[in-house]
Amino acid sequence: MSIAKKEYKRVTVKTLVDMKSKGEKISMLTAYDYTMAKIVDGAGVDVILVGDSASNVMAGHETTLPITLDQMIYHASSVIRAIDRALVVVDLPFGTYQSDPKEALRSAIRIMKESGGHAVKLEGGKEIKESIKRILNAGIPVMGHLGLTPQSIYKFGTYTVRAKEEQEAQKLKEDALMLEKAGCFAIVLEKIPAKLARAVAESISIPVIGIGAGDGVDGQVLVLHDMLGMTHEFNPRFLRRYMNLYEEMTSAIGQYVSDVKSQDFPNEKEQY
Ligand code: KIV
Repeated sequence: MSIAKKEYKRVTVKTLVDMKSKGEKISMLTAYDYTMAKIVDGAGVDVILVGDSASNVMAGHETTLPITLDQMIYHASSVIRAIDRALVVVDLPFGTYQSDPKEALRSAIRIMKESGGHAVKLEGGKEIKESIKRILNAGIPVMGHLGLTPQSIYKFGTYTVRAKEEQEAQKLKEDALMLEKAGCFAIVLEKIPAKLARAVAESISIPVIGIGAGDGVDGQVLVLHDMLGMTHEFNPRFLRRYMNLYEEMTSAIGQYVSDVKSQDFPNEKEQY
């Protein structure tokens, strides 16, 4: 297995902007615990996202809405203990930043102080502009997130491709410009047409990281458990599976069960 070239000793928000200006693509993956984060960081991933997708893949919820700030802090602090190089971005969970900018700042401060994360990510455009500004004014780097924003799933009704209609595409472009102007260091674009994502990436100087947003953006992000094939019921077109860990783990665990039952395990060398 090839290990990615690690040109940068420690990835910072400034590194990402430099990477965009040099045309170097940014790799980003999620992680939610120490062991996985150690592997992801060691393999050379530039940005680790402690995503609120932890609500789905770690806790088994149907949506990202139930995860709490305390739970995100727990996941993020486990990740932080593992990393030597990657920039760690932590999602502000649903309900911790939408009601007012002061609450948004309090939530972001808790993430930074209690987990040691390096930046926060918030979903939305102009509706949350004041919250983003307040967090940025406190010196906390912010990553935006537009397109399919899973915290608004009950408003959308489905997880289908967003911004296919001109009106929504126009709003997304305006929101991206607003996020850049406000001072965000990067933006995630989720599940939108590739042509639109490319146009957005070309129109702003901060990096655009896509998930289901095509090849015209500045970097890619996937959910770790999906790309490793640990989950197997989620099959969107944009997902490339690099392993089939669901099958490999099931087979290994099945073998263990059988070895215990047949008394093959432990053998003489495996005991004291
Ligand atoms: O929570 C998450 O994993 C995310 C990615 C899908 C970008 O926000």
